[in-house]
Amino acid sequence: MKTIVILISGRGSNMQAIIEANLPVDIAAVISNQAEASGLSFAQSKGIATRVVDHRNFDTREAFDAKLMQTIDAFKPDLVVLAGFMRILTEGFVNHYQGRLINIHPSLLPAFPGLATHEQALKAGVKVHGCTVHFVTPKVDHGPIVAQAEVAVEANDTPATLAERVLIEEHRIYPQAIRWFAEDRLTLTPDGRVNVKDVETLN
Ligand code: GRF
Repeated sequence: MKTIVILISGRGSNMQAIIEANLPVDIAAVISNQAEASGLSFAQSKGIATRVVDHRNFDTREAFDAKLMQTIDAFKPDLVVLAGFMRILTEGFVNHYQGRLINIHPSLLPAFPGLATHEQALKAGVKVHGCTVHFVTPKVDHGPIVAQAEVAVEANDTPATLAERVLIEEHRIYPQAIRWFAEDRLTLTPDGRVNVKDVETLN
């Protein structure tokens, strides 16, 4: 069975969805850069080890990432799962976990990288929005796409109403993508795409 470590910064609803999906993985730890992240207590209630590496205790990104790496690697994960982890990671960190670091982003990448994705989508007037699970590469919110789910934009949507519907899809596709990884069904092609073996329909 593969071992995963989940990184969060706050609420941790994606982490919760992953835990509750009862995937065929060993969730070795949940690590947060914020001691007050509410997701930590949920993980603890499920008997999962938690750690805090507070970025404010480090002078440089490199020093923070080095400590984070050391904390993660103590659990020997096959996959590191970013679930609302709100720190930009250094190239050294990302390269260390090449092919075993995934993220969920609340837009249909490559559209709307960065923050405030639902505002960006409404401003652009797109009719379809959604979320993306992708392998992490040094360029923020890029990288080989594992799974996406669409959400129709309604005329009266606000960023909050849109976020709510996108989050439902996040909670569905993130556990699914991790299951594919756990079942060795993901292959990264040399040109940076992800093939999923025997893909089932997500929608
Ligand atoms: C999610 O929308 C995720 O896509 C984004 O940050 C949010 C985290 O939510 N990166 P949660 O902490 O998983 O509830």
